[in-house]
Amino acid sequence: MFTPRRGLVVVGPALALAIFFGGFVRTSSGQVNPEAFRRKIDGAQVELYTLKNKNGLEATITNYGGIVVSLSVPDKNGKLGDVVLGYDTLNDYIGNTPYFGSLIGRYGNRIAKGRFTISGVDYQLAQNNAENSLHGGRKGFDKVVWQAEKLDTPEGPALKLTYTSKDGEENYPGTLGCEVIYTLTNNNELKIQYAAETDKPTFVNLTHHSYFNLKDAGASDILGHELMIKSDKFTPVDKDLIPTGELRPVAGTPFDFSKPTAIGARVESDDEQMKFGRGYDHNWVFNRQGKELELVASLYEPTTGRFMEVLTTEPGMQFYCGNFLDGTNKGKGGTAYQHRTGLCLETQHFPDSPNQPDFPTTELQPGEKYTQTTVYRFSTK
Ligand code: GLA
Repeated sequence: MFTPRRGLVVVGPALALAIFFGGFVRTSSGQVNPEAFRRKIDGAQVELYTLKNKNGLEATITNYGGIVVSLSVPDKNGKLGDVVLGYDTLNDYIGNTPYFGSLIGRYGNRIAKGRFTISGVDYQLAQNNAENSLHGGRKGFDKVVWQAEKLDTPEGPALKLTYTSKDGEENYPGTLGCEVIYTLTNNNELKIQYAAETDKPTFVNLTHHSYFNLKDAGASDILGHELMIKSDKFTPVDKDLIPTGELRPVAGTPFDFSKPTAIGARVESDDEQMKFGRGYDHNWVFNRQGKELELVASLYEPTTGRFMEVLTTEPGMQFYCGNFLDGTNKGKGGTAYQHRTGLCLETQHFPDSPNQPDFPTTELQPGEKYTQTTVYRFSTK
């Protein structure tokens, strides 16, 4: 009886001081405590970093998996609120996460049967998703410790993350040197710049896996969010979500988001593709030429007025509407993330490209530089 009381007396002022000195970062669901992320893993230091732009927007990012833990942006009344799902502690992320907020590599999405051939050599990856390899295998880039450096750039505060994936890691060929820069720009954008180089031919497809919920960071579902995707085609899949190779027109199907449409409007459709995905879990092919940064999608949440635009250099995007969330993941502030309470807009090359000769290539040769840039831009209307 006595000890807990003493504990409270000691912890109380410490908490107050931490809040006073900004040691805790406020999110709509409470605070993210950097202490809950401070730990050494395999000798490498893990921390929680805070980026705050000049308009008061705030992102907290840990160098474990390059995970965006919280992202606070204003609603139409100027009130800041968190718009991503995640956990309060590093331990929760290590324990069990459906890739909340993380960097994904070496290969975003699925590779059929975990197999590919490059330079005449066959490679077998871990089959961590039915028969297929998903998101880089057992220990993808979402589960490694990145080296971190905070930067002050003319655009806004940034966090530079670097990681060297060894030749043979997760059975991928080539030593892959990777750099990811997260910038919280003063134009209210979360900008992600990726770069990678290899010493042997390999496949690379990096992406980011935030689960967005512009209303309440996952307390309620995302079905009322209105999504627009600048795309006339998507890549239909088989029952294990491997593309068939076809580029299918979206016109007349639940996949047509060329005009802003509520996600819930057609999510229960009888379309076979929707059954395979248990909802939306597909790759859209952007209507675009070239590799310039271009607006490709937008997301609007009518009750808060929050509006997010997506710009990218990539040819496609996996839109996943949280079909596998079922309330078992207890996240920030104790929120149990129920079915479809978060959605991912993973800009990337198409799934299974190593086995699909007609898809844009994801092969990277020594001497070449892989780059991709994606911007999530926030405003209200
Ligand atoms: C991606 C996949 C989904 C699912 C999620 C994580 O978006 O396409 O099928 O695996 O990641 O749960």
